[in-house]
Amino acid sequence: MKRSVMRCGLICGGFLAMAVLFAPVDVAVADDDDVVTGERLAAVLRAGRSVISSHQDLINDETIGEKNLTGDSVVAEALALYTEREGNPPEGDGLTERDKLLFDAQIAAMREIVSEYEELIDTEGVGFKGFIPAIFARLVNERFSEKVGDLAKTKVTAPDELVRNRKARPDEWERQVIEEKFLTKDWPKGEAYVEEIDRDGRKEFRMLIPEYYSASCLTCHGGPKGEVDVTGYPKEGGAEGDLAGAISITLYK
Ligand code: HEC
Repeated sequence: MKRSVMRCGLICGGFLAMAVLFAPVDVAVADDDDVVTGERLAAVLRAGRSVISSHQDLINDETIGEKNLTGDSVVAEALALYTEREGNPPEGDGLTERDKLLFDAQIAAMREIVSEYEELIDTEGVGFKGFIPAIFARLVNERFSEKVGDLAKTKVTAPDELVRNRKARPDEWERQVIEEKFLTKDWPKGEAYVEEIDRDGRKEFRMLIPEYYSASCLTCHGGPKGEVDVTGYPKEGGAEGDLAGAISITLYK
């Protein structure tokens, strides 16, 4: 059985600021609380990525040593950005014990990763350091798993033919949702897919949120296809609006 949950009316389409919070979710029987948890995890990750992105020029600046970009500053900016985007702070409305654990782990992961890369970020004489939003996100997700891997997993994946890092390869479920939902022409742009599945007798809440290329992604993921980008990977030949990948959230029940 399947129901489509529109979290607000069509009118929301006009309010870009609300688009993240009220992104429609296609649900095949799942707990609403899990949907909220999944959305929060994804939104915190996105906020962190945006903060790194907003400082990319500074990070890449070879003329500046100490950049004052620290674990604490990135976390503070990410929380402020989340609050601005979503209208309330992530820890605002009384988190359940599980959600508090997950939130604290995600924030700690972000703080740790930036702290560990601070020395590299502060290296004078080196321009591009490879510290970009996608890598930051992967490192944060891996650290998050180390902390709460029996409870939850966060990951950024992509269609097989676009995957750069092997660790981002989609699993069977992700591949199927990407191919049979996100890549079909009728899939509403931006709509997440949510499902509760059984794996080896254990229930898992799964959520996949599509992400699309914007103009800023194309310096690396655009054309000409095959040309090597600044990170050393061949460009995918993507265009603005194409499916780039997906944020994948798993909650183990
Ligand atoms: C500076 C070059 C650069 C830019 C700009 C960039 N990316 Fe990437 N992207 C990468 C690299 C490098 C990786 C592999 C990261 C890793 O090792 O995990 C990656 C990985 C990804 C992944 C994860 C799957 C995979 O291939 O490993 C997605 C999804 C993605 N990028 C989407 C985007 C989107 C959407 C944007 C724009 C908002 C963007 N990227 C901007 C370089 C870039």
